[in-house]
Amino acid sequence: MTAATEIDGSQGIDPASDDAARREFRRTLGQFATGVTVMTSLSPAGERVGLTANSFNSLSIDPPLILWSIANSAQSFENFQVKDAFAVNVLSADQEALARQLAQSTPDKFRGIDIREGLSGVPLIVGCIAYLECSVWARYPGGDHDIVVGHVHRVFNIGNAPLVFHGGSFRSF
Ligand SMILES: Cc1cc2nc3c(=O)[nH]c(=O)nc-3n(C[C@H](O)[C@H](O)[C@H](O)COP(=O)(O)O)c2cc1C
Repeated sequence: MTAATEIDGSQGIDPASDDAARREFRRTLGQFATGVTVMTSLSPAGERVGLTANSFNSLSIDPPLILWSIANSAQSFENFQVKDAFAVNVLSADQEALARQLAQSTPDKFRGIDIREGLSGVPLIVGCIAYLECSVWARYPGGDHDIVVGHVHRVFNIGNAPLVFHGGSFRSF
């Protein structure tokens, strides 16, 4: 399957038609450049949980709300329930290795990572360019993901060059 080079009406793809079309759907979504975050929380047993996520976005200023989506297949899926505390860690350009580490479902995901405890003991990853400390405001089903809406209680705006994700690759400005 070749990617469309222009909008001529003949090369558009129905993303649900077959496996190749689904792959092309993913590649198409990858054209949208994003920042990269790590969502952190605590399990009911008090263990640190976290995963790399680029589905983060702003939602509302008043009340202060953000959103992101979590895959049904993620081991962290049962965490991030309504009222649970969690944090958005916005990664800096030099945190690619950390993004890769938190994108793997391994038992000791936080090995070697410098952590501070935020509100409710939620892990904050040292060296990020911004932090948003939240509680889950709502959670909605969305196909093979759930949409998590976060109510933001505290932010840290540190600044610095962001880590960027585009076309399936990590980049920076
Ligand atoms: C750049 C990037 C962005 C990602 N964004 C998301 C996302 O928004 N939501 C999601 O559920 N998984 C996302 N993932 C995949 C998860 O990080 C990955 O499946 C992780 O292993 C899940 O951890 P867990 O199984 O321990 O919960 C992303 C991975 C990468 C590399």
